Amino acid sequence: MSWSPSSWRNFPIKQQPTYQNQELLKKVEEQLASYPPLIFAGEARNLKADLARVGRGEAFLLQGGDCAESFNAFNAQNIQSLFKLMLQMAVVMTFSGEKPVVKVGRLAGQFAKPRSSDFESINGIDLPSYRGDIVNDVAFDEASRIPDPMKLIQAYNQSAATLNLVRAFSRGGLADLNEVHRWNLDFIKNNPLGLKYEELSDKIGRSMKFIESCGINTDNTPQLHQTTLYTSHEALLLNYEEALTRKDSITNDWYDCSAHMLWIGDRTRKLDEAHVEFFRGIHNPIGCKVGPSMQEDELIELIDALNPNNEEGRLNLIVRMGANKVEDHFPALLRKVQQEGRHVVWSCDPMHGNVEKSSSGYKTRDFDNILTEVRQFFAIHENEGTIAGGIHLEMTGENVTECTGSQSCAITAEDLASRYHTQCDPRLNANQALELAFMVSDSLKG
Ligand code: PEP
Ligand code: CO
Repeated sequence: MSWSPSSWRNFPIKQQPTYQNQELLKKVEEQLASYPPLIFAGEARNLKADLARVGRGEAFLLQGGDCAESFNAFNAQNIQSLFKLMLQMAVVMTFSGEKPVVKVGRLAGQFAKPRSSDFESINGIDLPSYRGDIVNDVAFDEASRIPDPMKLIQAYNQSAATLNLVRAFSRGGLADLNEVHRWNLDFIKNNPLGLKYEELSDKIGRSMKFIESCGINTDNTPQLHQTTLYTSHEALLLNYEEALTRKDSITNDWYDCSAHMLWIGDRTRKLDEAHVEFFRGIHNPIGCKVGPSMQEDELIELIDALNPNNEEGRLNLIVRMGANKVEDHFPALLRKVQQEGRHVVWSCDPMHGNVEKSSSGYKTRDFDNILTEVRQFFAIHENEGTIAGGIHLEMTGENVTECTGSQSCAITAEDLASRYHTQCDPRLNANQALELAFMVSDSLKG
């Protein structure tokens, strides 16, 4: 079966916008195809090697960021606070959980959104659904909801600028292990969780002094002051992904250079459809969401289509069942993949199976359900003797009120209105995400 970056166009496809101006779309695609790639294939290969270690239980995967990045909330503050939060969570899991953490952001390209319905209806008015800032605008009026090809260019530019800042933070000193105190975000500092983090920072500080007196310092050991935050997003809008797919000059293989890692959503993972066709030909590490409707044989067929050489680190299965379903649905899938000897990295997305409507009317997720799903994910792996490789979260470094519960901030249904800023799904705020990281570090140690 021959493959090309555009062969997906011969297959049925779901969750795409209908562009009225096809001529402009074509022009935009050509322009994007002429622009520089956002990542280099060698970096994607490094991530694949890191994920292979995750699959063997030698490292842990932390993937997180916005549900949907937004053009309006694009600023240095948001990027920096997410970056610091990822570092904080990683250091908690590395120090207490005793495993290196592979950090992958849902950022610098996480724009396109699948929707449960093609239309949104408010007060008797029906408009096309919002599909992410790369497609149309969230405002509820007819003009805003028309898909605009020019938004692909804006998404590319925003991704490039975001990645530029992330690379600067990673290399420029912010990630220095002598700076762990500085990663604590202001609004966390004085609560019990912030203090718990301060304690851990003190221990790290003492360890740093100790190794420094042994002659290991930031001058001779770059790992102490540099880090890598890889990028990822759901490769939903294939016009965009095709335009950024390039042939690597070293290996002659195709890479989707819009991000280091791409994943397929739970709604677009059918075997004989366009997304699976596109993904099978790119050589990046890839993910695929696994929801409660996935069947055992279907999963094996999908694995074989996406990773025919059974390569380690190539395929991350992101399990998103919901706290009330994971025990019923996940063990059989896990056992089947194990029996068939397929190499995959298992991670847990405790967000997408736990969406509910709060009594105050907001779309939310309860922290207890999120914790429960993560705990069960670890317990099931423990039972089967397999590797719980990572977590996949929707989170922000900002002090939002979008998910209810947690010990550290105890958000109620009534509190949601105060700082509900998400463009799409409710995210963990920095307190809630850090609390989860401490919980995961206990499980890792266990
Ligand atoms: C998402 O990760 O934002 C998403 C839409 O997930 P899923 O495909 O699992 O529903
Ligand atoms: Co989401």
